[in-house]
Amino acid sequence: MTPDRHVLIVYGSRNGSTAEIGRWVGRTLRERGLAVEVRDVADAPADISAYDAVVLGAGVYMTGWHRDARRFARRHRRALGSMPVWLFSSGPLDTSCDEREVPAVPGVARLAHRLGVRGHATFGGRLAHGAQGYVARQILRAGKGGDFRNQDAIRNWAQGVAAELTWELTWEPLTL
Ligand SMILES: Cc1cc2nc3c(=O)[nH]c(=O)nc-3n(C[C@H](O)[C@H](O)[C@H](O)COP(=O)(O)O)c2cc1C
Repeated sequence: MTPDRHVLIVYGSRNGSTAEIGRWVGRTLRERGLAVEVRDVADAPADISAYDAVVLGAGVYMTGWHRDARRFARRHRRALGSMPVWLFSSGPLDTSCDEREVPAVPGVARLAHRLGVRGHATFGGRLAHGAQGYVARQILRAGKGGDFRNQDAIRNWAQGVAAELTWELTWEPLTL
């Protein structure tokens, strides 16, 4: 157990589905003994240097990440560049993520490269009645909404993050 190690999970979410993914990831990390804080990116701490790792996720809108998540990454690029970071995107409104690994959209791929992150995953998205915006309503009217988030895939990914972190944070170099 490494409860003294703190992981910050931050999400940029317009309609709540990425927020929920963030909470699911947080639950898995807690089950693995990590201390976790899950925050909306609009309510994220001004100083993130006290955390041991960050998981940053955002909904994809018009092929780009939620604006506040992009801002967060820009504002904290130095700190993020020097700690273990994982990214996730919540996007496709279809089953593509269950069939293959869906790569990050180009802007997020560049961000991942710049920060030298440990990993990125794209999870299926959700668009449900009550979603904000004209385009969202058009998509729903065309019958293209739904919940395509796969909780097993999200849990598996989070378990990988937890495994890497708990191994790394408890590891003590051998003195020969
Ligand atoms: C206007 C609009 C544009 C979208 N554009 C994309 C897109 O370019 N790529 C994608 O994979 N998903 C796209 N989506 C789907 C959303 O990313 C998906 O609904 C996501 O789960 C939303 O996250 P949120 O509920 O946290 O805001 C779009 C949805 C809307 C309503």
